[in-house]
Amino acid sequence: MTKPNLLSGMQPSAGSLHLGNYLGALVNWTKMQDDYNAFYCVVDLHAITVPQDPKELRQNTRITAAQYLAAGIDENKSALFVQSHVPAHAQLAWVLMTLTGFGEAGRMTQFKDKSQKAGADSTSVGLFTYPVLQAADILLYQPKAVPVGEDQRQHIELTRDLATRFNSRFGETFVIPEGVILKETAKIYDLQNPEAKMSKSGDPKGLVNIMDESAVIVKKIKSAVTDTDAAIRFDREAKPGVSNLLGIHSAISGQSIDALVAHFDGKGYGDLKGEVAEVVLAEIEPIRDRANELLADPAELDRLLAKGAAKANEQAEKTLATVYERVGF
Ligand code: ADP
Ligand code: NA
Repeated sequence: MTKPNLLSGMQPSAGSLHLGNYLGALVNWTKMQDDYNAFYCVVDLHAITVPQDPKELRQNTRITAAQYLAAGIDENKSALFVQSHVPAHAQLAWVLMTLTGFGEAGRMTQFKDKSQKAGADSTSVGLFTYPVLQAADILLYQPKAVPVGEDQRQHIELTRDLATRFNSRFGETFVIPEGVILKETAKIYDLQNPEAKMSKSGDPKGLVNIMDESAVIVKKIKSAVTDTDAAIRFDREAKPGVSNLLGIHSAISGQSIDALVAHFDGKGYGDLKGEVAEVVLAEIEPIRDRANELLADPAELDRLLAKGAAKANEQAEKTLATVYERVGF
């Protein structure tokens, strides 16, 4: 039996992924490789919707790909590739843009947030049409399911609407994908501002980067914001900082929150932070070291990325050829 296709990707803009990207996305990607014919990409076309330094973008794309591999994405099971190496993404996006209403695109709330941050003068048409490119990324691979964070729900709806519209106008072409929204338990919060999710655009001190030096990681965890009451218990509202540390420990160690609370009974925040730092380092250090090894061998990384691009191009070109034929090219 053939496995269903699956597509997911992350931006290369920060170079290093953070603990939220790793625990909320990458760990799941590695687990899904056996059950799906998976396509995992580094979405560099999306990165240039805001200004990038070319040299840094190229290097950050490689660093991101190296982390996918180091975390366990297996080039023999999955296609690991860079989005710009597969021209069909931009080509399908154009066709889909002609099917997207101007008002429909204007209702995307992420665009409103991002353009407000960028300011009117730095807001490009590319930033505006970003969700349509994302629809193309997905639809090229004909997946039944797309694993996404809660903030991507609206973009998945647009993807489904565009696929349905194309199918009804030009004939059955696309599988209509379901968004599989990630569980709340996989969510990691900012160490300095534990009401907000850990994000590359958040406080750098609240962010644990996979590529950080070990001493930096320990310092960030030991400086995590907690509260003045000394009890170690799980309560996202009253004790967001402590709950986040327990959540990180649990996500990595696999121990239940209840078991951890019992384990820390009678201990202090220093003990909690020390143990979380140990658990995080034991998980992250081998990944960082492996990623650095891959980056030190550019020819091997190029070979792996070319192999992934060949697999992705094969699937993507097939879908694009059908689309082009149906629209009259
Ligand atoms: P960021 O917020 O750092 O810009 P992205 O929005 O690019 O991260 O998300 C990339 C992937 O990582 C998505 O699958 C998203 O759900 C996941 N992710 C991002 N931040 C977190 C987090 N704090 N906790 C869990 N998963 C996260
Ligand atoms: Na984001």
